Amino acid sequence: MTFKVLIENTDEVFGCSEGQHILSAMAKMGKKGIPSGCHGGGCGVCKVKINQGAFSSKKMSRAHVSADEEKAGYALACRIFPETDITLHVIGKLQKRF
Ligand code: FES
Repeated sequence: MTFKVLIENTDEVFGCSEGQHILSAMAKMGKKGIPSGCHGGGCGVCKVKINQGAFSSKKMSRAHVSADEEKAGYALACRIFPETDITLHVIGKLQKRF
């Protein structure tokens, strides 16, 4: 099963299969909307806010996503796995400016 992921900042859309983290799905599709770093939950550059959709997540470093932020939908794109179509906003540092 493949879910659709929309990056609000850049209007990019890509597919993410079940069990694949969002950042790796994006990189495979050759998209660059979410800053890509360690892919292991350590650097925090891939931080996003999920505005729509459901996902499961692996443990995220509290240095990058606080418990309150996690409740509010903030997450690291390399630690989350979509369970529905997703709409997200990039928070990470390297985001493009408009
Ligand atoms: S790429 Fe480093 S935390 Fe996601």
